[in-house]
Amino acid sequence: MEEKNHIYPIFDRMMTRQDKEELLRQHSVMIWFTGLSGSGKSTIAIALERELHGRGLLCRILDGDNIRSGINNNLGFSETDRVENIRRIAEVSKLFLDSGIITIAAFISPNNDIREMAANIIGKDDFLEIFVNTPLEECEKRDVKGLYAKARKGEIPNFTGISAPFEVPEHPALSLDTSQLTLEESVNRLLELVLPKVKNIK
Ligand code: ADX
Repeated sequence: MEEKNHIYPIFDRMMTRQDKEELLRQHSVMIWFTGLSGSGKSTIAIALERELHGRGLLCRILDGDNIRSGINNNLGFSETDRVENIRRIAEVSKLFLDSGIITIAAFISPNNDIREMAANIIGKDDFLEIFVNTPLEECEKRDVKGLYAKARKGEIPNFTGISAPFEVPEHPALSLDTSQLTLEESVNRLLELVLPKVKNIK
């Protein structure tokens, strides 16, 4: 066993991911939604979870506003804090994946480096990047939480899309523009992508 800072991980002695996947009769996968605030990430995540659950598949959603009121409630929206936000989320996601659970993350995760870090922590083979590419104008028009109006008035600094950047993903597994697709259409596209990956268990 390798010693690093007097830490001795016991991962190799615990029941494995494969054991858990067999128990649950499903393969786990990471479904990572990225996109602007108000683009529809959480709405799609919730609808997808419901569909998968209805097919007997166990899922866990990790969502920006939930995680930021719990485990990450000491983090803000500076570049450094966003990196730490996503790093912790990726590590937590990995624990769920290793438990055989289909893990669905809905975070702005605003740039390629941050998403790359998440993919590296989780493992690229398990990482499905889904770009919810609803245009900024549409997100701002919806302004479900009233945050865009505040950001325009300068009341929220570093607001993604207004005063902080959002970098478009280069090779997402899927892009969903919720100004063009119904919720059902978005979920159906996801099911086509996800079901073959999670269900092919002996
Ligand atoms: S991320 O950039 O670090 O990935 P995350 O998805 O966790 O962001 O949180 C985004 C949510 O925090 C938004 O949906 C919004 O409700 C809220 N929020 C508060 N301040 C900001 C801000 N400056 N920029 C973006 N979102 C913010």
